[in-house]
Amino acid sequence: MRKWSFSKPLLFKLTSLALVVTLLSVGVTTFFVARYAQRTLEQRTKADLLTDARIIRLALQGVTRDLEAHIASLAAASERMIIIEDEAGLILVDTIPAGIDRSDFITTHLPLDGGGTLWVGIPTQEIRVIYDNLVRGSIIIGFLVAGAAILVAFLLNRAISAPLQDLLVAVRRLQEREFGRKVLVQSTDEIGQLGKAFNELSETLEELFFKISDRESTLDTVLSSMDDGVIAVNMRREVILANRAAADLFHHQEKEMIGKNQFEATRHEELSRILEKTMDGQDSFSQEMRLRPGSERMIAVTSSPLEDPHGKIQGAVAVMRDVTSLRHLEQMRQEFVANVSHELRTPLTSIKGFSETLLNSNFEDRALYERFLAIINNETDRMIALINDLLDLSRIESGKQPLNKGAVDMRKVFDETVLMLENKAAAKGVTIENNIYYPVMVEGDEKLLKQVALNLVDNGVKYNVEGGKVWIEAEQGLDSVEFIIGDTGLGIASEHLDRIFERFYRVDKGRARHMGGTGLGLAITKHIIDKHKGTIAIESRVGKGTKFRITLKRSN
Ligand SMILES: Nc1ncnc2c1ncn2[C@@H]1O[C@H](COP(=O)(O)OP(=O)(O)O)[C@@H](O)[C@H]1O
Ligand SMILES: [Mg+2]
Repeated sequence: MRKWSFSKPLLFKLTSLALVVTLLSVGVTTFFVARYAQRTLEQRTKADLLTDARIIRLALQGVTRDLEAHIASLAAASERMIIIEDEAGLILVDTIPAGIDRSDFITTHLPLDGGGTLWVGIPTQEIRVIYDNLVRGSIIIGFLVAGAAILVAFLLNRAISAPLQDLLVAVRRLQEREFGRKVLVQSTDEIGQLGKAFNELSETLEELFFKISDRESTLDTVLSSMDDGVIAVNMRREVILANRAAADLFHHQEKEMIGKNQFEATRHEELSRILEKTMDGQDSFSQEMRLRPGSERMIAVTSSPLEDPHGKIQGAVAVMRDVTSLRHLEQMRQEFVANVSHELRTPLTSIKGFSETLLNSNFEDRALYERFLAIINNETDRMIALINDLLDLSRIESGKQPLNKGAVDMRKVFDETVLMLENKAAAKGVTIENNIYYPVMVEGDEKLLKQVALNLVDNGVKYNVEGGKVWIEAEQGLDSVEFIIGDTGLGIASEHLDRIFERFYRVDKGRARHMGGTGLGLAITKHIIDKHKGTIAIESRVGKGTKFRITLKRSN
């Protein structure tokens, strides 16, 4: 049980109130009782004195002698002072002891038969003692009653304020989200009911609190795992919610954004404008915008009004999706279509031109006729090669065809490649050397790896000079093998090296096309190597030659 003192305000107030009330009532009562007692006592005394005077007058009738002695005995018997005066007011007999004044007595008087006046008195002191005792008694009783009243008030107040104090402590704990603290319910009165109601309220609050924080953390998890940025603002244009993705977009911490003005938090005029529009028009809006003026990054923003259950608008929420790569892909697709169309149009235009010329000719010049047909045949071959390359590329890229993996002997692959290209190389005065002298086994798809070898060695021959050389080497590592396909050809300027593996990329378009190239070979090669989880790198110097390095996984 806790200690109680008057310093507790409620207890102090109630007890002092009780004290003042009882003291006041006891004081007022005592005052009036004393006044009444005093008056009654005086009247009673005067009436008694009058009776005594009458008796004394009767007793004095007929007494002529020894009047003084007689009066003295009467005074002694009645314990009264007696004075006899003659008509002139002269004192004949007096029983007042010497030294005491007549004014110290309460007196009454009666006329005597033979003239003169009989005075009977009682000392005022005697009455005062009775009166004083009476007053003192009532004051003592008054104080006892007041003390008892204060004690009762104190106990009663304590019974009220102790549970209230308990309740106060529990409420404070509740404010600090310390649930589960119950107040002790001992009585069934209003205070007891208050305690019970509080306990129930505390339970409901606890349930509600955990439900809300549960929901909040679920929302938090969902929001923070979203790739899309989410920002919500209230009608005062202050950010009330921002997830990690949104913070990342604007280079902030989530917490830094909360409470800030929407523009201050995002520094994005268009975004602020779309939020304004949403709150003003109470409608949803979608718009694509740059993340920053002049930036490559694009975001698609959808904003919707935030409404309370009564449909009243409370703010707006914007969802932002980074569509940069989407737009980039779209652009790449468009470029690809344009490239393919362009690549096909060139041979088609030439076929069309030559066939028209042939149709308009008189078929007599057989040499011309054969030359044109050969060109048409060539262009058709180019188109077939192009389409075959495109099909290869899309097949490999789509990933639909799994690798037909096995142990592949790369020496054999390169030997076959050399064999296939020997005639072409000889025609250009280029020699090809396969410097792999024993089987080198790698893990992979033989058909695809043959395509890689063919393309790289073919490039080495194609982009070479008269008397040039192409060679192939292998270097075995622990887990992998590195192959080098080198040539002493034209080489590639360094500014092209970054883009050489892109589709349709050719250093010298006219020359490459003339060589029958599609510009797809290296793109296909890179895709195949990637599929094999290998690496491909290029080193080149203009006029000196080019080296391709490929690493592939060793097969054991
Ligand atoms: N060994 C090489 N030496 C010089 N240039 C090369 C070599 N290999 C490739 N290139 C350049 O890279 C471009 C792309 O090669 P590739 O994709 O195989 O296309 P293509 O052989 O059909 O022209 C070529 O057009 C050429 O300009
Ligand atoms: Mg090629």
